[in-house]
Amino acid sequence: MSLTPIGEPRHKITVASLREKKLQHEPITCLTAYDYASARLVDEAGIDIVLVGDSLAMTMLGYENTLTVTVDEMLHHTRAVRRGVKNAFLVADMPFGSYHLGVDEAVRNASRFVKEAGAEAVKIEGGEKRADLICSIIDAEIPVTGHIGLTPQSVNVMGGFKVQGKTLPAVEQLMRDAVALDRAGVACIYLEGIPREVAAMITAEVQTPTIGIGAGPDCDGQVLVFHDILNLTFGPAAKFVRRYADAAALISEAVQAFRADVVSRQYPSDQESYHLPKDTQAALDTVLERKHAMRR
Ligand code: KIV
Repeated sequence: MSLTPIGEPRHKITVASLREKKLQHEPITCLTAYDYASARLVDEAGIDIVLVGDSLAMTMLGYENTLTVTVDEMLHHTRAVRRGVKNAFLVADMPFGSYHLGVDEAVRNASRFVKEAGAEAVKIEGGEKRADLICSIIDAEIPVTGHIGLTPQSVNVMGGFKVQGKTLPAVEQLMRDAVALDRAGVACIYLEGIPREVAAMITAEVQTPTIGIGAGPDCDGQVLVFHDILNLTFGPAAKFVRRYADAAALISEAVQAFRADVVSRQYPSDQESYHLPKDTQAALDTVLERKHAMRR
């Protein structure tokens, strides 16, 4: 396995190249991004999939959970991310309520993500019971990614954010869900919050690449939330989150330094100021001198 060095030209990631990575046992990388700046940083670092997750409800908009975010809010963020992504495969989350009220509406909403925001695929939570709906969206030429296990849009049904697939019937249901998504032809399957052993079994069983989050190391790829890896979430992190930087501390330090410089009049300096051209300054001095003289 070779990593493309940063700065080297990269190939566009597609549904086919994700499948090829699974076949070649090449780990697939995925991060969320919600705006132009994060999208550029993630894409330029060589991440394979950029996911505009509905987790933006919490990370960007300060909502309690993902249930309240709307299609229009998701489209707004997806458009910004689109402008920052060149090579990664761009997936947008279909929010709660956007695919639950009938096939026609689901296909219409999915097509908005492609047409109005430039997404290359949408993500839908749920397995076996969403398989027919997913087939209809794929029939409309829109690639779909699946998401099973701990599906945050089902929080009220699950009774909280709990690890799923811990009993034999639950493991069997998860396997049926994964196989149904595999048969439906999804581009990849996100496995969230399930035991490592179950994720490994699913990954071995299906031809579709699996992308884990809190699902152990045996998936075909891994996804984490941008704000989680940078400590921008203002709270304790889940067990599976690895923090790669403390952006909260960095940002806070920078903001405090700016405030201190303004309060102590150390910002801006003369070098950070614009100046009049010499001839304008000379003309201005003459005018001011004349005015001064008339007053005397
Ligand atoms: O919304 C999200 O960020 C997600 C994942 C992290 C899989 O669905």
